[in-house]
Amino acid sequence: AGFFRWLLRLTYLGVIGGVVYTGYGIYQNRHPIEQQAPDPSKKTLVVLGTGWGAVSLLKNLDTENYNVVVISPRNYFLFTPLLPSCTTGTIEHRSIMEPIRNFLRHKVAAVKYYEAEVTKIDHEKKVVYMSPDSDSAGQLGQQELAYDMLVVGVGAENATFGVKGVREHGCFLKEVGDAQKIRKRIMDCCETATLKDQSPEEVKRLLHMVVVGGGPTGVEFAGELQDFFENDLKKWIPEIADHFRVTLVEALPNVLPMFSKSLIEYTEQTFKEETIEIRNKTSVKNVTEKYIEAEYTDANGQKQVEKIPYGLLVWATGNAVRPVVKDLMSQIPAQKDSRRGLAVNEYLVVKGTDNIWAVGDCAVANYAPTAQVASQEGAFLARLFGQMARTEELESRLALLSEEQSRAAKKEDRDEILREIKELQRRFRRVKQMGPFEYSHQGSLAYIGSEKAVADISWLTGNLASGGQLTYLFWRSAYLSMCFSTRNRILVIMDWTKSYLFGRDVSRE
Ligand code: FAD
Ligand code: NAI
Repeated sequence: AGFFRWLLRLTYLGVIGGVVYTGYGIYQNRHPIEQQAPDPSKKTLVVLGTGWGAVSLLKNLDTENYNVVVISPRNYFLFTPLLPSCTTGTIEHRSIMEPIRNFLRHKVAAVKYYEAEVTKIDHEKKVVYMSPDSDSAGQLGQQELAYDMLVVGVGAENATFGVKGVREHGCFLKEVGDAQKIRKRIMDCCETATLKDQSPEEVKRLLHMVVVGGGPTGVEFAGELQDFFENDLKKWIPEIADHFRVTLVEALPNVLPMFSKSLIEYTEQTFKEETIEIRNKTSVKNVTEKYIEAEYTDANGQKQVEKIPYGLLVWATGNAVRPVVKDLMSQIPAQKDSRRGLAVNEYLVVKGTDNIWAVGDCAVANYAPTAQVASQEGAFLARLFGQMARTEELESRLALLSEEQSRAAKKEDRDEILREIKELQRRFRRVKQMGPFEYSHQGSLAYIGSEKAVADISWLTGNLASGGQLTYLFWRSAYLSMCFSTRNRILVIMDWTKSYLFGRDVSRE
């Protein structure tokens, strides 16, 4: 009985501690300390982008060391791993957005933010050109900003591989606007299919949801969509039950090529049970308003082209280099052989430059273009810039002391200064010893629908592959803990609870 009383007391203490901690977090979030004003005498560090790479850098950076300026057309950070859940309303998009100003106002020294798109980086002149992303900007037009140091974290754009009609008729899944467009389109297809006197062919077409690309984006979206149908749409709109179907088209022999073989098989088997059709070894060559043209090889080894009608087309075939990055690459001879983005060295310095760094999807550093890589690169740069600032400070103090020493008349003074110099040199050697960037892979996770997920987790020296409902719980808790802020976490939990209790919202807006 005594033991249980103690356990109860400990639990109370834990709960009270948790409440106080969260309360303090909320208070601190609302009332940050006053910031130091930017210091123009310091070097100007310009950061492009507010995605995984840039935000991880900004979060970890000592902003007192530099005059920091951030430029991005998006004034918020987006937690992309939960974006597929926004296409069906399992999670509301604002729950996974964090305004950039929310966390910039917590930095010790103020950071300037411009909501604009950088259209050109002039590497020789050390300036960037930016255009405001707003109709209200009026006459402002293009503006120029000089930098001493530049970090490019602009991510990538959607790859289409030159397939005609994709941009006009398909939906991508990269930004909040894409998820909103898909959500609207799903409901549009369902409501239009049930209109009075709708033809059976149109009903079939409208309710055929086609996803192109069997990477994690395509797989997660297909799983979320089938869940939406099974859990909600089928109940709200029973007329569509016999015709609604999801097809996933993949050019390679299997989906999720980056996962281990057993998890690929598990995913394909789960999709079969969920009645999601997978069309492997099928490559989409053309897209029109109402059908796609897909090429596959038949049993006789002959290439065939099939017209597949669709109501919703989601195009998830990976990344392509942004024009601003292509343009920068074209200015630097050392980048001429790079195809997939800015080639960087082991300290993430853009090859052929000495004051430009690149992080995330726009950098080519032999890692997959993932949030995990981008955020580790951002954190590495924050440490590197901290070291660089300390090194520069020590260098200038050393130069001053050497001057003082040569001016000192008395031997004792000279010896005293020498001792100081030696101490500084010792610290200097320590500061300079920062190793290159090393990526630590924590594993890959993907949701595959019907409350199942797959996970390839790095485990001690090996790899742990698991799939199923327990992995789904792990997936949920891992992504919840990775959310940007306590506010995001609370909102996501509320959304999950809301969808569970009341079902997803099927309003079209
Ligand atoms: P982004 O996060 O894309 O950010 C780029 C930033 O640059 C944005 O703020 C953008 O507005 C800004 N920008 C663009 N153009 C300009 C310009 N011209 N000037 C200035 N700023 C500009 N990875 C994982 O590891 N795990 C996952 O579970 C996962 N899930 C994903 C789910 C989806 C649906 C998607 C699309 C991706 C997912 N990823 C995941 C991949 C991950 O999101 C990317 O690898 C990551 O976002 C890359 O970070 P980044 O900083 O390079 O670019
Ligand atoms: P991806 O590059 O991983 O996959 C795209 C797929 O589309 C490829 O398998 C390719 O063969 C296929 N494809 C290309 N053209 C095609 C065509 N014309 N017809 C049919 N299929 C075609 O792209 P994705 O899924 O957008 O991911 C991008 C990056 O983001 C990856 O690095 C991925 O690891 C990461 N990501 C990670 C997630 C996770 O860990 N859960 C979730 C989403 C993305």
